[in-house]
Amino acid sequence: MKYDKSLLTDIHGSGPGQNTGAYSSKVLTLEDTLKINQRYMGGGMSQNYFAIPWFEYYLDVNRFEYIVEFGSQKGCLSTYFANFAGITERVFFDTFELYPEECWFNRPEEGCGHWFEKLANISPHINSFYIDVFEEEAISHVQGNIEQFKTFIFCDGGDKVKEFNNYAPLLKSGDCIAVHDWGHEIDTHNIQETLDSYNLEVDPLFAESASKTGTLIMPFRKV
Ligand SMILES: C[S@@+](CC[C@H](N)C(=O)[O-])C[C@H]1O[C@@H](n2cnc3c(N)ncnc32)[C@H](O)[C@@H]1O
Repeated sequence: MKYDKSLLTDIHGSGPGQNTGAYSSKVLTLEDTLKINQRYMGGGMSQNYFAIPWFEYYLDVNRFEYIVEFGSQKGCLSTYFANFAGITERVFFDTFELYPEECWFNRPEEGCGHWFEKLANISPHINSFYIDVFEEEAISHVQGNIEQFKTFIFCDGGDKVKEFNNYAPLLKSGDCIAVHDWGHEIDTHNIQETLDSYNLEVDPLFAESASKTGTLIMPFRKV
């Protein structure tokens, strides 16, 4: 059987400024893979490559039943979580994005939203919300699910400090929360009061793994 050639397009990743052909004339090094902002599965993600194995082992150890990502952006990381939820069927996954037209649905900029929505259509474990994470609708949706599921929140939206300080208090014992861009957009002093008031502590082993692999992820757990 011959495939329909008209189904092939060159829209994806065609935008200016994409890292196309980056290694056509130089060697890919370990140092290159440590950098944030990579392409994976053809989609863009604001993570380094080590974020993926880091999450794989973190999710394996913690066995969450509900994962929430604040800030989907291009959506490659969201698609990783979605596939994890769809493959394992042991966890629900929500991602929140306030400006989906900018990156998520932007095929020339390597957005993954078109594919994520197909996954969400075939799996009851996967969902995307195009709303502000600080809106009542988002808070009550996440809070309702925290109440019944062992939860992991990944703060990677536009205001990580506010995300942490607003959502960490909603967690119950055994739940976890992590932030991205640790040391750049958020640090201990921004969240110390919340850590103390709500009995949250750094997850020491995974924090060290995240740091050694340059992910800029900092994980916390509710005691
Ligand atoms: C750093 S990017 C997310 C990167 C993504 N998690 C990844 O790993 O590739 C932050 C995203 O958060 C979105 N955002 C900013 N403020 C938001 C809000 N209040 N609610 C939902 N999304 C927001 C931005 O539009 C942007 O796409």
